[in-house]
Amino acid sequence: MIGNPLAATGRQRYFQAPMELDLENEYAARAYPILASLVTPRPIALVTTLSADGRVNAAPFSFFNLLGADPPICAFAPGDRDDDTPKDTARNVRATHEFVVNLVDEAIAEAMNQCAAPLPFGESELARAGLHAAPSSLVKPPRIAEAPASLECVEWGTLQIGGNRVSSA
Ligand SMILES: Cc1cc2nc3c(=O)[nH]c(=O)nc-3n(C[C@H](O)[C@H](O)[C@H](O)COP(=O)(O)O)c2cc1C
Repeated sequence: MIGNPLAATGRQRYFQAPMELDLENEYAARAYPILASLVTPRPIALVTTLSADGRVNAAPFSFFNLLGADPPICAFAPGDRDDDTPKDTARNVRATHEFVVNLVDEAIAEAMNQCAAPLPFGESELARAGLHAAPSSLVKPPRIAEAPASLECVEWGTLQIGGNRVSSA
C-alpha cells in the first residue's frame, strides 16, 4: 500500500516521499485499522439471515458494497471469529443461501451497533436492539421494519479468502 501524506492538503510545493506500508509483513498486525481508516466512509449492511432451523439473525458489516446493477449484485464480507469459526451470518448464508441487506440511517444507528453483540447461535439480536422483523417479498429471511431500505438477496457465490468470506448476491 502506498499513501501520499501530501495528497490531502494539495498546497505544499515541495516533494515528500510517499509512505509505503507493507500490510502483509511489517504492518500485518495493523492492516485492519489502517485499511478501515483509509477507505471511509463505508456504508453498513445490517444483514438478516435465517439459520437452517429458521431462527432470525442480524449483524452489521461495513465490508460491504454494490458491485453492479445489471444484474444487480452486492457483496459483504464476514471475517471468521478469533477462534477461526465462521460468524453466524456466514453459517446461515452457507446453509440457506439467502440474506437481506438492510441499509442503516441515523435513526437506527445505535440499534445497528447493538446487533454486533456476540449472542449464542440462534439467538436473535433484533428484539434485544428494539428492531422488528417484517416479511420479505422474495426471500425467507425477514427485512427490518425500521430500515430505510432493504435488499432481498439470493446468494450468487461465496469466496473464502483466508479468514474472510466474501458473499455476493
Ligand atoms: C459498524 C460495524 C461494522 C462491522 N463490520 C464487520 C465486517 O465488515 N465484517 C465482520 O466480519 N464483522 C463486522 N462487524 C462485527 C460483526 O457485526 C460481529 O462480529 C457480529 O457479532 C457478527 O454476528 P453474527 O455472528 O450473528 O454473524 C462489524 C460491527 C460493527 C458494529
